[in-house]
Amino acid sequence: MSSRLTLALRLYREGKVSFYSTDLEELAKMGLPYTKAPIFYNPRMKLNRDVTISIFSSLSLKSAADLMAASGVRALRLKAEGGAEEVFACDSNCLSAQIIKMNVKLNKLSGIRVKCSDARLEAERMAWENERVDYLDLDPFGSPAPFLDSFLRAVKRGGIIGITATDEPPLFGIYPDKLLRYYGVWGKKLPFCKEFGIRSLISFTIRTAARLDLAAEPLLSYGEGHYVRAYFRIERGAERSKHLLKELGWVLYKEGDFEIIRGIDEMPRGAMGPIWVGKIVEPEFLGKLSPLNEEVGKLFEKLKEEADGPPFYQRLDIICSKLNMRIPKPKIVIESLREMGHFAARSHLDPLGIKTTAKREEIEDLIRKLTSS
Ligand SMILES: C[S@@+](CC[C@H](N)C(=O)[O-])C[C@H]1O[C@@H](n2cnc3c(N)ncnc32)[C@H](O)[C@@H]1O
Repeated sequence: MSSRLTLALRLYREGKVSFYSTDLEELAKMGLPYTKAPIFYNPRMKLNRDVTISIFSSLSLKSAADLMAASGVRALRLKAEGGAEEVFACDSNCLSAQIIKMNVKLNKLSGIRVKCSDARLEAERMAWENERVDYLDLDPFGSPAPFLDSFLRAVKRGGIIGITATDEPPLFGIYPDKLLRYYGVWGKKLPFCKEFGIRSLISFTIRTAARLDLAAEPLLSYGEGHYVRAYFRIERGAERSKHLLKELGWVLYKEGDFEIIRGIDEMPRGAMGPIWVGKIVEPEFLGKLSPLNEEVGKLFEKLKEEADGPPFYQRLDIICSKLNMRIPKPKIVIESLREMGHFAARSHLDPLGIKTTAKREEIEDLIRKLTSS
């Protein structure tokens, strides 16, 4: 019996690179989703990679690693568009590693090292052999939690780690037991569950880093499509990490309204967390970034608008359903709240989500006024 493997490949283009990966149309014809591809490539994650390239090139970083490189598209783009001098691409799927080598040649790129190996093993080796990188990408199937310890050790001090989490049901509190087991956070699904997921991921990363005497400073986090993404600067030092731990806290959710409790010294009855209650976007960091293209520019604009806002958001659809009133235009609500002297901005996570310093009753009164006029 022949043991030959037949693989339908397709030539793709993303950013400035061309690369071979599984033919996703052929896969779909066989009734298989893209997650079953022998070599993984998700075109819908292009914005995720565009943001990585924007950050890497804006900070003029030199070395990068994608230890779960799949088709190698992110690694190739870090070299071709990000200006990286050295890139390390690794995947535990040896077929992926073979294709990445082929894709490196196809793009006539040098300075990309490719290996078939386990990501955690390589991250620990990088730390042990002092081959830490300026930028490390953590982009697993599902939760990044099992990989975080080793990955944090493989980032140069002052370097950046970019983390993707696609395990939204646990992070969003839909599976509270898994949220607790994977992230050490207690929570249930709330109306602003997407931001709760981001704040849980940040809290987990800070606490994991603190165990290693590292400080993971949150720089920029967002949610899009079916994933959340968070970037951190990694510094050494227990003092720095203690400072970050002070910005953990709880959220108390009651009858449609919520309260933020800063500090984790005491857990109030019924509270959820510990979550990050500081900024999810650092305006100073965002100000240093040049967006790679219009789509990244639009995302950065949205993040800039809400960056100085308080944690979480009020949902106009939920408030209006309670008041039995039509939903006013979010833009009008935001302008009115600003005229009242409040911070107000739309959340990038929900088209009807308003981040504001106004109290719930004030928003309800405003909606009554707006819808009756
Ligand atoms: C979501 S994909 C990564 C996508 C890629 N970073 C990109 O931007 O296109 C996850 C990849 O991780 C690989 N993988 C899973 N477990 C791994 C492990 N323990 N070590 C290394 N690679 C692993 C899979 O083979 C798959 O290619």
